[in-house]
Amino acid sequence: MPLTTNKELLTLAKKGGYAVGAFNINNLEILQAIVSAGEAERSPAIIAVSEGAIQYAGMPYLISMVRTAAAQTSAPISLHLDHGKDLNVIRSCIDNGFTSVMIDGSEFEFEKNIEVTKKVVEMAKGKRVSVEAELGRLKGIEEKISVSEKEAILTDPQAAEDFVKRTEVDALAIAIGTSHGAYKFKGEAKLDFERLKEIARKVSIPLVLHGASGVPSAVLERAQRFGAKLPGAKGIPDEAIQKAIGLGISKINIDTDLRLSFVGALREILTTKPDEFDPRKILGPGREAIKQTVQSKMKLFGSSGKAA
Ligand code: G3H
Ligand code: 13P
Ligand code: ZN
Repeated sequence: MPLTTNKELLTLAKKGGYAVGAFNINNLEILQAIVSAGEAERSPAIIAVSEGAIQYAGMPYLISMVRTAAAQTSAPISLHLDHGKDLNVIRSCIDNGFTSVMIDGSEFEFEKNIEVTKKVVEMAKGKRVSVEAELGRLKGIEEKISVSEKEAILTDPQAAEDFVKRTEVDALAIAIGTSHGAYKFKGEAKLDFERLKEIARKVSIPLVLHGASGVPSAVLERAQRFGAKLPGAKGIPDEAIQKAIGLGISKINIDTDLRLSFVGALREILTTKPDEFDPRKILGPGREAIKQTVQSKMKLFGSSGKAA
């Protein structure tokens, strides 16, 4: 089937009370793993491509691979630019077949964020391309953080309402205490669910949770057993993800868990079979490990069985 848009996927998710996973790709194996997980689970999926991924693999390769994947699968997928910051890259994605783009103006103050976000909404107007924006900063909140520091980082519900009205974006990424990478919390995992509740009360478009990897212990232990050094790695517990979905999150971004799964499998093969030098025998198990992780996310997010 042709690529679908995030707006289509997330409207259904919001209505159905589940979330769609946005999974980052950088190469063929990661894409194949996500798409075959979607097939196995009968689940929609968002294929997320960062500006770094575009630099690494090249836009034409990524677009052709994702289009080919979409043509071969019966589960809906969209092609989404993750954390777009460069307006030239965003324009190029819109003009070349992406069905969703994120404009990440979160580093700017409120008015400047609105200004850049509106530019992208304007670029996407009349095209079959959804726009996601971000308000608030995805920095982990330390246990000893002051109230004013916390307010400066996390998304203000009233500001979110104003931002959405003024920009007319299709989805909004919010900050409630998650952060990117494998080191999200030093102590207890803590998310600001009251804030999420308030934002969901004021904002009717789908809400997005970035930095949502769980750093699952089995995945981490496999990587560590075969030499990975990741002391203190910690992610978002599954229960917190389920609670966030129940409170109105419709899109959940996962990259770190895919990276950890891939590298754990590669490390195991390279360690246990030092005579192996066929890339297919090394990358193949990495692809399988990602597929399993993505399937478990689809079950957790409630998107399994939701492919039309
Ligand atoms: O949030 C960012 C994603 O994990 C992509 O990371 O910019 O290193 O490709 P990247
Ligand atoms: P993680 O680092 O928690 O996987 O978050 C990924 C993300 O937000 C991509 O935009
Ligand atoms: Zn992100």
